[in-house]
Amino acid sequence: MSRPFGSSKIGVFQTAQLRNDSFTPDHTDHIEISGGGPAGIVLDEAHGQAYVYTRFDNGLSVIDLNTQLESNHFTLPNPEPIHIREGRKFQFDARLTSGNGNDSCASCHLFGDNDALAWDLGLPEGSEKANPNAFISISEPAHPNRFHSMKGPMTTQSMRGLTGHGPMHWRGDRTGENRVGGETLEEAAFKEFNEAFVTLMGRAEEISDLDMQSFTDYAMELTYPPNPIRALDNSLNAVETRGETHFEVGLIRAQTGQREICASCHTLNPRGGVFGTNGLMSDNGQTGERNVKIPHFRDQYQKVGMFGWGFERDHQTGPQIRGFGYNHNGATSGNFVIADLRLDPDVLAEIRAFIFAFPTEQAPIVGQQVTVDQASLNTARTRLDLLVARGQVEQPVQECDLIAKGVINGRHAGFFMNRDGQFEADRSTESLRSIDEILALIGSVTDRLTFTCTPWGSGKRMGVDRDNDGVLDGDE
Ligand code: HEC
Ligand code: HEC
Repeated sequence: MSRPFGSSKIGVFQTAQLRNDSFTPDHTDHIEISGGGPAGIVLDEAHGQAYVYTRFDNGLSVIDLNTQLESNHFTLPNPEPIHIREGRKFQFDARLTSGNGNDSCASCHLFGDNDALAWDLGLPEGSEKANPNAFISISEPAHPNRFHSMKGPMTTQSMRGLTGHGPMHWRGDRTGENRVGGETLEEAAFKEFNEAFVTLMGRAEEISDLDMQSFTDYAMELTYPPNPIRALDNSLNAVETRGETHFEVGLIRAQTGQREICASCHTLNPRGGVFGTNGLMSDNGQTGERNVKIPHFRDQYQKVGMFGWGFERDHQTGPQIRGFGYNHNGATSGNFVIADLRLDPDVLAEIRAFIFAFPTEQAPIVGQQVTVDQASLNTARTRLDLLVARGQVEQPVQECDLIAKGVINGRHAGFFMNRDGQFEADRSTESLRSIDEILALIGSVTDRLTFTCTPWGSGKRMGVDRDNDGVLDGDE
């Protein structure tokens, strides 16, 4: 299993031994490092040192290559909120969270996402539980409406975007039923995963309530990245637009002659923070597993790759790049799901195009950049204008905070664009500037500014006040 940031150790291996298979594992070949979450290493043989970046504390460990010991550890400024810093280790630190120190939630939920595999995680000795979840009004629960402890193979879900999306697991069996204080359903449902530290990762006992709270606060803020298929100005092309209409108006299922309105179950409401489900259940009518939580759609484009299997086709077609596809068991191919509606191929292509371009919590423009210097002033302008425009969008949802960082007159400069399209500088003595006034600052060959669309709400910190202490960077 892979374990990003898992062990807080650097392993020293002889590549020749790995090649000729004479390698014997030995813990004395491990170099312990502090800080936690090693994420990258640079070898500086000339000085007999190696440098390791440690993600948990945003730090740097220096390793003495002669003694093979950590000789120093530095921490870099870290603007992350305290609950993110505190909560991360429970996701990744295999030594803290597993029995043998070699597994973590991130073993399957790589970087908070998934491993594109299916696991059969049923408990033979477990008991059946009643299902308290709400069903959508158009679908009666199939009986018996209970969670069997042997659930069969199910694809690993993402840990991203849990907030506001209801009970967890494909069956919704992490129900969030028992809420205390002002907890949301999702917070309570996530806390039910504490038992997985013991049942999946072999830890002697669950982590403490305080630690689980910390992990929950962290997990509730994981979001999906921008959908790379969706246009940067957040518009739909003609095919996607027709797909959106099918999605909202519905399609006639050939077998039953009945209209199926996708949007009635797979609710899309970006303003309400809902992307494909309201968290309700429905009976999907398939044998094996009947009552399933209606899944969200922010990840559909990532599931393509298993071709030809499922529903009406029983054999693969051509080369495969994934072993698991759609639905809870991953058994439905990339031709997907609505193949059984016997749709016209154009209609099928349109609805697929829309689902693949489904929006996420982060607008498509988030993370986009352009660097402007004297040479690129003209060529960069179209792209820059797009960033400036998206940075002012507030309807139906806010899209991004535009910042600029770079060098002007030989000194570091930072800017943040406010809601009126005016740029605030990183020194209190400077006045507001328009985009044209900002570009006019680029007066020599060494001047340059990189404009970045950052997540909404992060711009001030990232652009002009990196430690968020209210004193602008240029004034410190
Ligand atoms: C062995 C692989 C594996 C490990 C380790 C693992 N998970 Fe999962 N996770 C899965 C699978 C498979 C599913 C879907 C299972 C289901 O629906 O019943 C899942 C589903 C989830 C979901 C539901 C997401 C949603 O959208 O409903 C959450 C949350 C989650 N896991 C959190 C955790 C946490 C927290 C840990 C560590 C304590 C963990 N997982 C460890 C495989 C794993
Ligand atoms: C009655 C509610 C309901 C309606 C209406 C509905 N779905 Fe679904 N959909 C579900 C449920 C429940 C699942 C999960 C099934 C499973 O995992 O076995 C699902 C799964 C899916 C998936 C796979 C999701 C994944 O992550 O693997 C896709 C794609 C999908 N539906 C598309 C559609 C389209 C397109 C329509 C309209 C033609 C539609 N659905 C109408 C309830 C519904």
